[in-house]
Amino acid sequence: MARAEVQKLIDRMAIPVIAAPMFLVSNPALALACCAEGVMGSFPAHGTRSREEFRAWLDEMEVGIKRLEDAGKKPAPWAVNLVVHPSNDRYPGDLELVERYRVPVVLTSKGAPGDAIKRIHGWGAVALHDIANRRHAEKALEAGVDGVIAVAGGAGGHTGTINPFALMNEIRQLGEDFAVVLAGGMSTGRDVLAAQAMGADLAYIGTRFIATREAMAAAAHKQMILETRATDVFLTASIDGAPANWLTPSLLAAGIDLDVLRTTLPGKIVAAQENKKRWKDIYTAGHGVGNIEDIPSASDLCRRLIQQYREAKSQMSGAVMQRAVA
Ligand SMILES: Cc1cc2nc3c(=O)[nH]c(=O)nc-3n(C[C@H](O)[C@H](O)[C@H](O)COP(=O)(O)O)c2cc1C
Repeated sequence: MARAEVQKLIDRMAIPVIAAPMFLVSNPALALACCAEGVMGSFPAHGTRSREEFRAWLDEMEVGIKRLEDAGKKPAPWAVNLVVHPSNDRYPGDLELVERYRVPVVLTSKGAPGDAIKRIHGWGAVALHDIANRRHAEKALEAGVDGVIAVAGGAGGHTGTINPFALMNEIRQLGEDFAVVLAGGMSTGRDVLAAQAMGADLAYIGTRFIATREAMAAAAHKQMILETRATDVFLTASIDGAPANWLTPSLLAAGIDLDVLRTTLPGKIVAAQENKKRWKDIYTAGHGVGNIEDIPSASDLCRRLIQQYREAKSQMSGAVMQRAVA
């Protein structure tokens, strides 16, 4: 059963959290620091500039995980994000490398995962596909994924727009035998417990990890995360064609008129080939920014999340017990 396969991964983790893949932010240093603390680390294949660099990152992960195991640690599994959309011309070669390195978890995004899923299962890996509504989830499940990454409204990067409660309930209508990873706006261990209470198996946390020492994000991006709140997050499909959340101060710094942006058709502001530059100069973040006030090491952040999660769990069970006695 697909959900059981995902549960096997969770059993090897200290907290059901995936440090989500982030273009220009995630790298092996961040992923390994997370894995060492029992949090699933990840990065996008397209975060590397070339196939050679991708191979070097995969080598770094292999060596790093082995080093942790040799030191008697039990690292969490790690994952790579692959864009499966036909417009990604690196996809076939990147998939081949992911297969060669037998990456334990593959996070597919954009487009239909199709044949990739059979191939991923072929080397015993778990496949999770990101979706923003029930129809996307149905298609991913038809392709045989082990679970879906439900990207709710308020997520960093390309975002969904549906409220997380509504999205979770619609997706769970499709059944119980697949895993759901909930994404969007989470920044604490308590949030992770809440996601589980909503029916999710795992939480997918991106923005909180931008403000860590290991993240490759520009210093100005990290600083802006500390200084902004949810009201500074601007949702538009007009920067790169898909709905994404951008930090307003960075839009203004790039000379973009917000009134023009509000009335522009998707994809009209910037040509697709300039996307990379845009992601570099214009910073993305989810609604969780308002609760981020420091730039700890990734290990400290993971430990904090685990501690908060445990405290929230015991507070919740204490409250339930009290009510039962009263
Ligand atoms: C800076 C940034 C870059 C991102 N890049 C990617 C990416 O390359 N691939 C991907 O699947 N998701 C990407 N995402 C989305 C995240 O994987 C995840 O869905 C999201 O961060 C979760 O919401 P949160 O940021 O509110 O925690 C990105 C998000 C951010 C903030």
